[in-house]
Amino acid sequence: MNIYGKYASTLNELLDQMLLRFRQLNQNYERKYHERLYEHLRGRVKSEASMEEKCRRKNLPLTPNSALQINHDSVGLRVVCNFIDDIYTCIDYIKSWDNITVFKEKDHITNAKPNGYRSYHMILLVTVPNEDVNGNIPGKYFVEVQLRTIAMDTWASLEHEMKYKHQIKHPEMIGRELKRVADELASCDISMQTIRQLIREED
Ligand code: GTP
Ligand code: MG
Repeated sequence: MNIYGKYASTLNELLDQMLLRFRQLNQNYERKYHERLYEHLRGRVKSEASMEEKCRRKNLPLTPNSALQINHDSVGLRVVCNFIDDIYTCIDYIKSWDNITVFKEKDHITNAKPNGYRSYHMILLVTVPNEDVNGNIPGKYFVEVQLRTIAMDTWASLEHEMKYKHQIKHPEMIGRELKRVADELASCDISMQTIRQLIREED
């Protein structure tokens, strides 16, 4: 039996619906302001194997309840913006959407993690016509959204790669170097934003 049980197809529909909302947002925004609100967007339903592995790691039974109620990232989206400001604009739009409430949010941009990781994390509760794991119709499903700049995304991808795929011989030194790069990239993000502001003030 699939860990998502009979809810698996709803997860795919939910992902499609969320991707569509973001794409429409970007199109409308571009029509109005002649620039994109985000540069690109990725989304996925966490594979059954990864969700099972995560539940096992957390000593949870391999049930739809563990996958959909206790874990909140069965459906995940990553919004990658050109500028820091755009992330906060995007967050305001998300908060204005129908059928969505913010269950939890964490600003790891203003407060970077000690290793240098930066991103804005939101856990949304999205209402859908289908039944949820508690038997409610309409149902409520969790969706994780991570918002980052391109620089933050580049760093997070490399750091993730190193953490999970390589046996690191000098973890302290590598950690220190990664942190230094994260801070340099953060400073570049601020400079890029300042440059955009200067260009805008010219017209
Ligand atoms: P906590 O409540 O402290 O757990 O914070 P959170 O829920 O905002 O973050 P969590 O640690 O649960 O991470 C959620 C997701 O963010 C992860 O699955 C990763 O995709 C990403 N993430 C968080 N921390 C890091 C990090 O240090 N490096 C990278 N590459 N990704 C991270
Ligand atoms: Mg967490």
